[in-house]
Amino acid sequence: MKHIKLHENHLFPEDLADINKLLKQLNPDLKKINWEHIKKVMKNATVFVIRDHSPRHKKSSPRGKVVGKTLLVHGQKFAGSYGTIHDVVVDEKYRGMGLGKMMTKEALKKAKKLGMQHVELTSNPMRIPANKLYQSLGFEKRDTNFYKYQIKK
Ligand SMILES: CC(C)(COP(=O)(O)OP(=O)(O)OC[C@H]1O[C@@H](n2cnc3c(N)ncnc32)[C@H](O)[C@@H]1OP(=O)(O)O)[C@@H](O)C(=O)NCCC(=O)NCCS
Repeated sequence: MKHIKLHENHLFPEDLADINKLLKQLNPDLKKINWEHIKKVMKNATVFVIRDHSPRHKKSSPRGKVVGKTLLVHGQKFAGSYGTIHDVVVDEKYRGMGLGKMMTKEALKKAKKLGMQHVELTSNPMRIPANKLYQSLGFEKRDTNFYKYQIKK
């Protein structure tokens, strides 16, 4: 854990390969994203990034290898501002070390700082570690129907 650090809004074009690798681990069906897309997402969100600054990654990733990330999207309703957590993922080699919890806690801290009224997220019930993580942090399961209207495939 000595070389592992959490960063806020600290992403660069050279991180693209790491980000796409993490997205594949989140969902193998996701298409690769480009830097323009990341910049667009970051306009309305805070991104939390875990980097491994170990000397062995120094040459390939001078700013540290990205091994986890999560997104707090800033939302606004008539009732007030709120956040939505998306894209929580930790590289397979780094799981079970408390990094997922660290990022999610940081997102909640940021939401409080921004004056958000609540933070929401959805997670497939088959994602056992993720559901345990969210519940352990105080997320309450809501009894509601989740709808999705697909526009693009
Ligand atoms: C979900 C995920 C981000 C957790 O990251 P992580 O760094 O391994 O999790 P942590 O080590 O911080 O563990 C936090 C909590 O998650 C739960 N958890 C983590 N791994 C678990 C496992 N294998 N089985 C059951 N619960 C687990 C535990 O409640 C744990 O708290 P505890 O250690 O106090 O018991 C990671 O498993 C992952 O990237 N999964 C694939 C992508 C995914 O499903 N993302 C969620 C999308 S909604």
